[in-house]
Amino acid sequence: MTKESETKRIGELRAAIEYHNRLYYREDAPEITDAEYDSLMRELLSLEERHPELATEDSPTTRVGAPPLEKFSPAPHRLPMLSLENAMTEEEIIDFDERTKRFLAITGETELSYVCEPKMDGLAVELVYENGSFARGSTRGDGLVGEDVTLNLKTVRSIPLRLFAQEPPRLFEVRGEVYLPIKAFQRLNSERSDEGEAPFANPRNAAAGSLRQLDSRITARRPLSLFCYGPGQVDGREFSSQSDFLDVAASWGLPVNPLIRKVSGVKGILDFYGEMIAARDSLDYEIDGVVVKIDSYALQKELGEKSRSPRWAIAFKFPPRQAFTVVEDIVPQVGRTGAVTPVAHLRPVEVSGVMVSRATLHNWEELGKKDIRIGDTVLVERAGDVIPAVVKSLPEKRTGSERPVSAPSVCPECGSEIVKIPGEVAVRCLGLSCPAQIRESIIHFSSRNGMDIEGLGEKFIEQLLRLGLVKDVADIFSLTREDFMRFDRMGEKLAENLLNAIDNCKERELSRFVFALGIRHVGEHTARILASAFGSIENLMKATEGELLSLREIGPQVAGSIINFFHNPRNVEVVRRLTELGVRPVAALKRVGGRFTGKTFVFTGALSRFSRDEARRLVEAEGGHAAGSVSSKTDFVVAGADAGSKLEKARKLGIRVMNEDEFLEILQGDQQ
Ligand code: IVH
Repeated sequence: MTKESETKRIGELRAAIEYHNRLYYREDAPEITDAEYDSLMRELLSLEERHPELATEDSPTTRVGAPPLEKFSPAPHRLPMLSLENAMTEEEIIDFDERTKRFLAITGETELSYVCEPKMDGLAVELVYENGSFARGSTRGDGLVGEDVTLNLKTVRSIPLRLFAQEPPRLFEVRGEVYLPIKAFQRLNSERSDEGEAPFANPRNAAAGSLRQLDSRITARRPLSLFCYGPGQVDGREFSSQSDFLDVAASWGLPVNPLIRKVSGVKGILDFYGEMIAARDSLDYEIDGVVVKIDSYALQKELGEKSRSPRWAIAFKFPPRQAFTVVEDIVPQVGRTGAVTPVAHLRPVEVSGVMVSRATLHNWEELGKKDIRIGDTVLVERAGDVIPAVVKSLPEKRTGSERPVSAPSVCPECGSEIVKIPGEVAVRCLGLSCPAQIRESIIHFSSRNGMDIEGLGEKFIEQLLRLGLVKDVADIFSLTREDFMRFDRMGEKLAENLLNAIDNCKERELSRFVFALGIRHVGEHTARILASAFGSIENLMKATEGELLSLREIGPQVAGSIINFFHNPRNVEVVRRLTELGVRPVAALKRVGGRFTGKTFVFTGALSRFSRDEARRLVEAEGGHAAGSVSSKTDFVVAGADAGSKLEKARKLGIRVMNEDEFLEILQGDQQ
């Protein structure tokens, strides 16, 4: 290639990568596979290496991180980053509305227009775009001066490195909240436990810890995300209102929370607040309230600011997700990888609507460091549907009868020796046939996110083990009606259903199968990457470390774990038997450009025209996704007879609901 054509190719590659980035991270509707994306990135990296003079600050290759800094430089904000006044009750919102009207001398029936936004529980940052190019980014700091975290912010894939604007303003400062999605938080914490690092207490701390890394290559491995919520200094463009600002920002490619809504008066605010409380548990990120802003920028200007917070906005906070309770016991629990972790049994306590009676203590070292004892009064915290965690103990409440606990030396389930592997924080049971490990790995295999064998839950799996009918996951597929009929309280119909469910799972998507195998460090996300890169279990089993490492998001630890797993003859034998017994996982049928590309469906209630499995396949064959629960990400809910809480939630969230016939119509028809 000539230099000229290489320069052109670099331009094409950058545009293509950013385009696919946007589809993947913002619209959740990729048009190419991860492997194809990786190959574009590799081509660009190698061209830029050959022509360092053509490397630019806004090239997507800068998203992989840069060598560590010694310290962050101070970053003064052109306009101070203010904080918000809090309201905890309806009365305080009514007060706010009245106060605002009085200040603006608005009388009578006139209602104010507000923009209501979910209050993200992350950390505030400022992004500076110069002539449409991302130039700098900083943390809030004390509001006047923050820290320059430009390199770290560049690794956040949802932040565009160039604005999609025909004529971008000379200067565009935008503020937003960086957060770590709850799933990513869980994954990160389990990795940290495995690696002997202290887990983060909540997603907010994890986001802050990830963004404030001097080594941006570490930040690049954390899937941070961001929602923009307001302007800083802008030169070369006017905005008339908050809703105008958000619309324009979104059209320029900046991520804006789709739940944001313009409402009228106190009633509008209260309705939005109620909906967000209801949606809170199903969101993929933590919110701790609702931010209410006067929509008109002219009115905002008139209202002005107090010393630290504006008069035109207020944070309507949710009740805290923390509560105090007492640790009744600390019990060792054996997981499917043999890790033995302490679990706190708590005096049941309600934490924002959910009864909590157990909490994870992560590992024994952590337990010692936090000095949590049986009998202690502790603070527990719940985030999304994550297992609650003990934040801290309150030593001042001790009476002297509290008892510290340390790691057991033998497995509580099989009596085998427990060892601490050097370099790991976890202690592990080495028992090769430890019943707890076998039980947990079968539960994992059959679980909703694994092979999803409907009806085959913990209780039945325990009976299968007790009767000696299964010793590993492959045995599930040779079970007979007679085997099930040996269970306590088992009927013909139920046995039949279980056998059908087992049969039905044989052709699950490959990514589920890979996840279900329970390979250490391979969660759902990684399993999806592996499935799309290798296309079959046979190919994955043959993968070399180099091939694995060439995939985006697969590091040495995950690659090593996969290689180890398939080096173990017992695992290879189980996979071989599974195949022999008819388990033929299929590579996802995702059709790019299908009728449902990027759309998420939830099926609920009793379906009569098709089974849930068929429904899922129909949706996936058209490029869509079938989810198990309703959230703000759901596009359609298909409701059969007697649909219950999912349907109710869909209605609350304003999601389009249809019956089975309507679903079949849009599946076959021309309209969507
Ligand atoms: S507006 C002057 N909008 O909450 C306006 N803040 O307590 C100040 N936050 O520092 C911020 N979501 O970190 C605004 N939709 C949202 C927000 C939001 C989260 C955070 C932000 C801010 C803090 C103020």
